[in-house]
Amino acid sequence: MSADKANTKGRAEENISATQPGWALPSEKPHCSGEACLGAARQEEFGKPAPCPPEVPPLKPSANHTVCVQVSAVGLGIVLPVQTPNAAEIWKSDYVKMPFANHCRQTRTVCFVRHVEVIRWLVIKAALNKDRFESSKHLENAIKEYNQKYAHLWRFSGLHQHFDQLPDSERQYLLGTLLPGMAKLALQLPEQCSKPIPLLKQRRAHAITMSQEQIACLLANAFFCTFPHRNSTQPNSEYHSFPDINFSRLFANFSQRMSEKLKTIFCYFSMVTENMPTGLVTFQRCCLNDSVDWRRSPCKLTQLRVSSEGRIEEEEQGELQVDFASPMVGGGVLGSGLVQEEIRFLINPELIVARLFTEKLADNECLVITGAQRYSEYGGYSDSYRWLRCHNDETPRDSWLRRCTEIVAIDALNFRNPMDQYKICYLERELNKAYCGFSTADRVILARHKPAVATGNWGCGAFKGDAKLKALIQIMAAAQAQRDVVYFTFGDTALMRSIKEMHQFLQGSNVTVGRLYDVLEKYSRKALGVSMGRDLYEFIRSNVACPKGRI
Ligand code: APR
Repeated sequence: MSADKANTKGRAEENISATQPGWALPSEKPHCSGEACLGAARQEEFGKPAPCPPEVPPLKPSANHTVCVQVSAVGLGIVLPVQTPNAAEIWKSDYVKMPFANHCRQTRTVCFVRHVEVIRWLVIKAALNKDRFESSKHLENAIKEYNQKYAHLWRFSGLHQHFDQLPDSERQYLLGTLLPGMAKLALQLPEQCSKPIPLLKQRRAHAITMSQEQIACLLANAFFCTFPHRNSTQPNSEYHSFPDINFSRLFANFSQRMSEKLKTIFCYFSMVTENMPTGLVTFQRCCLNDSVDWRRSPCKLTQLRVSSEGRIEEEEQGELQVDFASPMVGGGVLGSGLVQEEIRFLINPELIVARLFTEKLADNECLVITGAQRYSEYGGYSDSYRWLRCHNDETPRDSWLRRCTEIVAIDALNFRNPMDQYKICYLERELNKAYCGFSTADRVILARHKPAVATGNWGCGAFKGDAKLKALIQIMAAAQAQRDVVYFTFGDTALMRSIKEMHQFLQGSNVTVGRLYDVLEKYSRKALGVSMGRDLYEFIRSNVACPKGRI
């Protein structure tokens, strides 16, 4: 065993003893005990965690921050929508095109012969304004009333099968209570959302703050597929670079996944129609203005806690929680996808509304969402995902009335050829993407605190990345952003040990981010020159101590 390894092993042993069961502070529920958790055991070893609620600057609109509620009222704890006169006259390409816009028209056939053009919102109101829906077919027909162009294309067999397999009492609750309540919520759109909602387009660093009630109203419209111009899948269509928002795809084919998704979504709507939350949520698109000179970074590694148990969303309040995103935020949440991002968007459904206004993320961009509330508890993953019950989120709110839950959507590269991920150009892309998500330098809204990043095998599932490499990339990006890291290996205890031991070795060797980048660059050349026989971490151990250029 090389000297380095013996040395590391010794340190690893020593560190594990520091994390025996019971290390968690009495007030903290231990994420894990003993062997399942390695690293900085106590919060103070992490450096001061952000207070929750964190201090935030006073809420006020600006050139790059659209606030959809009356700011003065928020100070009094009251949430009132901003009222914009003649909102129905607004129809601009830089703003969300609202279903109630007068520009939105459709042809109605009168007495079988005459075709009359009417304002589409009137058709929507007539179709949805019901005390009850007789069946899911009745719901299908209502949705098709104002989506005639797609009436022959859209299928609802998944929705019907979901309703058919429900116990009668649940079906009657949906048809007689929940769906009419959701329709009523959707029809409040002109009153709730008269302030134009800007599109968060690429290269446009901008924030939107809106109320949970406004989000619920927008999501109810998405459920009933009322958003215009959002259904075409043509590559050159107006919103081809935006995620879809209308729920029509979700209704098409029945599967256990689709059924569990609907249960999760109905749980959200039942909670908000029965007891509307009164807080705000902020969505901010951040663009990395200056990419980092990784080769010359003097930053030292920050603290790391690795756990093979637990999930990011169960992390302590106040951490920056990573969404393993698609560049089209939300990924397959309205389709068949059901891994980390889709699950997060289902249990915190206010995240889904980001699909309405967030254009595809570029390589140097991320989306930060502050305040998204959790409404469901779940078990399983992917095919075994099951909605369990509604969740009462008691996370404290900050002075903007937002839950202290900060989520950052960063999309890793999807490697069709896993060998590509070792190319320095892709390594650098992933470093910049993670740094964009973790840094506060390019935030639209200033952040005074830098709590730890709660992350895991980012880009290592659907996107087929190497977890050991991705862990290092995130550790380097967090160091550059001066944030500690809480890393969940999602049950992989061997990976937990490897990452922790590598981190201890690097910290013990006083390695800078720049030095580590240099070694990765050398590895990149060797990896691509020879077979990938040499383990990445073994290569780093053998070379990090070599003088620069001597590898
Ligand atoms: N907490 C911690 N770790 C998790 C969690 C969780 N809640 N859920 C999953 N993981 C771990 C698992 O080990 C998983 O294999 O993260 C790994 C990566 O998860 P993926 O969702 O597959 O992430 P990624 O590889 O980045 O693929 C992203 O999948 O969900 C879609 O829209 C998303 O298109 C995007 C793609």
